[in-house]
Parts: sequence; C-alpha cells; structure tokens
Amino acid sequence: MAERRRKNLRTLIRHAAIEKRVRNVARQITRDFKGQRVHLIGVLKGACFFLSDLARAIDLETSIDFIAVASYGRSKESSGQVRVLKDLDSSIAGLNVILVEDILDTGRTLGYLLRVLRQRRPKALRVAVLLDKAAHRKTPIKLDYVGFMIPNEFVVGYGLDYAERYRNLRDVCILPAPLR
Ligand code: IMP
Ligand code: MG
Repeated sequence: MAERRRKNLRTLIRHAAIEKRVRNVARQITRDFKGQRVHLIGVLKGACFFLSDLARAIDLETSIDFIAVASYGRSKESSGQVRVLKDLDSSIAGLNVILVEDILDTGRTLGYLLRVLRQRRPKALRVAVLLDKAAHRKTPIKLDYVGFMIPNEFVVGYGLDYAERYRNLRDVCILPAPLR
C-alpha cells in the first residue's frame, strides 16, 4: 500500500497470521463455552475489526455489544482515570461475557472496565486481547485469550490507530517514533 510505504511502517504481524490466530482463539472460546451462549463486548473503536472476525469464527450462539471509553490525561499512556463515553446497550446480568480489546499496554483501561462490568453480575467475565505488550504492564490483568505477545513498540493497523489514522491497514505495523 502506497500510504504505508510513504510512512515507513514496518510490518509486525501479517494479515494471514492474524486470521489464523483469530480462528484459533475462536476455537478455544467455542470449546470453553460448549453448548452455551457468549456475549462479546468490544471496546471501541480499536477492537471492532478483531471482534467482527472473532464473532464470525465462534461456533456458538453469540451476541455483541460495544462500550467506548476515554482515558484522561496525556495521550501517550493511559492514566487509569477512565470515562465511559458510550455505555452498553443492554444488561449483562447472567451472561457469559467476553471483553474484547485490541491491545493491552499498561492494563489500566481494562482494569477499570473489568471493575465496572463485574459489578453488573455477569455469569462469567473473560478477557480476549489481540495484542499483549506484557513488558509495559502497570496493572496486573488475567488474560483468558491472547492473540500475540508483542514488543514494547507503538503499533497500528487492524483496528489500532495513531490519531485516528491507520485503523484500516490489514497488517499490524510498527509506527516508527519520528512519525508520532
Ligand atoms: P492501557 O490502559 O495502557 O492498557 O491502554 C490500552 C489502550 O491504549 C488500548 O486500548 C489502545 O487504545 C491504546 N494503545 C496502547 N498501546 C497502543 C499501540 O501500540 N497502538 C495503538 N494504541 C495503543
Ligand atoms: Mg483501545
């Protein structure tokens, strides 16, 4: 893609590898919740591509919802002070909830969301993340489903953005520091 060459983006994970891994995670979920319904909650906007591929690969009765949050403070790292911009459309009481997120960095955003969702009494509350930057974790989070462990680099594509750009790239790419 010309846009990508122009920005010097370096491919970290190719789309084919993402597709394969997402199918594997979906198989795991299908096994874990055999015969039950699952309710996927995507964290907007980054998780929307991952959620839509994952949902279509899960062989169970599946419903979806979305939540949007904003992190206070400087944009480079989340502060842990999180604000809900768009809440869920419906109750999750008694449901097998899987929170679907694009990337886990410090863990602060997800830590907050898990506290909020737990109070709403789901039957189960699991976490699926496409990318895990484990080296940068500040808040410990138990992850149930992980796509890929990645180094501590800023990445874009397959839903992930920098200033709302690059979400539509098929591959996950490293955005070199001088361009940020
Ligand atoms: P955390 O609260 O530090 O775990 O931040 C998680 C959120 O920060 C993610 O949902 C992303 O929106 C954003 N984020 C963290 N690392 C990256 C990255 O490398 N690329 C794009 N967004 C990122
Ligand atoms: Mg996000």
